[in-house]
Amino acid sequence: MRILVADTFPETSLAELSRLGHECVYQPDLDSEQLRETLGEAEVLVVRSTPVTAETLEAGGALRMVIRAGSGTNTIDSAAAARLGIHVCNVPGRNAVAVAELAFGLLLALDRNIADNVADLRAGHWDKRRYSRARGIHGRRVGVLGLGRIGLRFAERAAAFGTHVYALDNPERDRQTRERVEELGIELVADPHELAQTCDVLSLHLPLTEATHHIVDRELLARMRSDAILLNTSRGELVDEDALIEAMESRGIRAGIDVFRDEPEGGTGNITSRLAAHPNVYGTHHIGASTEQAQQAVADEVVHMIGAFRAGSVLHCV
Ligand code: MLT
Repeated sequence: MRILVADTFPETSLAELSRLGHECVYQPDLDSEQLRETLGEAEVLVVRSTPVTAETLEAGGALRMVIRAGSGTNTIDSAAAARLGIHVCNVPGRNAVAVAELAFGLLLALDRNIADNVADLRAGHWDKRRYSRARGIHGRRVGVLGLGRIGLRFAERAAAFGTHVYALDNPERDRQTRERVEELGIELVADPHELAQTCDVLSLHLPLTEATHHIVDRELLARMRSDAILLNTSRGELVDEDALIEAMESRGIRAGIDVFRDEPEGGTGNITSRLAAHPNVYGTHHIGASTEQAQQAVADEVVHMIGAFRAGSVLHCV
């Protein structure tokens, strides 16, 4: 099959696709306009965060499948794909540990002011007193909003650090998750506001849908303690960024943020978000899934999906 891989992808997996007889074009830094222009006769498109719009899908005359090499499919116009008969697949779960690790890393870094510590030392300042007031993580109440594959991995890490873990109840939870919830002693609560009010830390692990858009709004932020920490490694649009900036400025809330409302397309560029530059924020470059382990696991699944699609299997995607 003719495949356009439009984002970073392990070399070994590209070689594997060629070995299997596929024709691969590797263009990892495309923005959505360049993507449209580069599609050509590709039958399969593999993307990470570059938006795939209706126009792009229409431009791909030979396109039969779009694979999002990650969990969320919010960057792909799935309705247009369905109209055009193009399959949309994602790879949920393979990067769950990596995202959970980053969320927990941001929590530890914020609690100990690690980035500020490092920046001060690099600038030649020694100020032990300034950094001697961390609250500590052990014994804190950690709220997990979204107990899916990533949320559960985050909850496991939080439990291992001796925190009390709370999570939003979801009646559709499968048996395995219910068992894990019991093993970890996770306390389920009924609504996001209760979670925000109860916890010292609130970590978001939700997909972006109409129902979750701005789930962290003024009202929810008002329930959070002023020394609380918000973590968002899911999608920027889950948070009303203006409301968060207000809450940080009026009440001192701090945040670890890996995802922003307006992320530059194609992997590099300028970010204009006020949130990214705010002193109460430890921000990273949407790198939750960006570990070698996670990217290899995702790529293995992508290679498998392409093989199955070529062999005519029905893929249960998204
Ligand atoms: C995901 O949806 O899993 C991530 O956004 C993937 C990524 O950053 O590549």
